[in-house]
Amino acid sequence: MYTLIIPTFALAIVACTIPTTKLSNNIAEPFSVLLQNASYPAIHNHYMNIWDWGGSEPHDQHLFVSPAGNSTSELTLIDGVISLMWNPIRRAVINLEYNEKDNTTKMFMTDRNDNFGIFDVVYGCNPDTDELQRELHVKSRGTVELGGEMGVKPFAEYHDFRWRAPGTTIVSLDPQEIWTKVTMVVVPAGKLV
Ligand SMILES: *[C@@H]1O[C@H](CO)[C@@H](O)[C@H](O)[C@H]1NC(C)=O
Ligand SMILES: *[C@@H]1O[C@H](CO)[C@@H](O)[C@H](O)[C@H]1NC(C)=O
Ligand SMILES: *[C@@H]1O[C@H](CO)[C@@H](O)[C@H](O)[C@H]1NC(C)=O
Repeated sequence: MYTLIIPTFALAIVACTIPTTKLSNNIAEPFSVLLQNASYPAIHNHYMNIWDWGGSEPHDQHLFVSPAGNSTSELTLIDGVISLMWNPIRRAVINLEYNEKDNTTKMFMTDRNDNFGIFDVVYGCNPDTDELQRELHVKSRGTVELGGEMGVKPFAEYHDFRWRAPGTTIVSLDPQEIWTKVTMVVVPAGKLV
């Protein structure tokens, strides 16, 4: 646990100072991914969890918004790819379960080499505390450098992860299909809030 002491003058109005240095897309020290979207309490300040899932060995690890699944602070970033250094290594891919109703594709972790989700590491400001933070922004899906946004969607009573390409104009109004954009924040292991 760590305690934040927030100077009153830093509240709300003042955005934190973003360094001009570019961040590496390799993070060797293990981390968790904190999720932010202050408009959605079921998502805001929850974490990206893993769920051991799959019919054959080795199992894939599907990604869910906490408290679903198992929490993890074992993630690393290798050339922009979120990775679990297990045997075999599981890497985040943006692949499968394409939904034509909202133009979204699932992100999950697998040992198969398939359309990796490749992220840039970018500085941002914590919307609650105004602290400087490192965020993961989608750069490419496999070899296709499109950018786009990561979000979450209801999956039974949970939320799983789905990528949406830039320029997506369609939204699904079905309550079971509501896609919500999330900010993914790197929180080094041992610094969980
Ligand atoms: C959580 O991890 C334990 C130990 O590895 C595993 O047995 C269990 O299936 C996992 N649960 C989920 C939901 O992934
Ligand atoms: C869906 O995504 C593709 C890129 O993958 C984009 O070109 C297209 O405009 C999007 N379609 C809609 C209807 O938003
Ligand atoms: C929160 O989600 C909504 C709906 O997806 C989105 O329009 C908004 O930009 C998100 N806010 C942030 C800060 O990501």
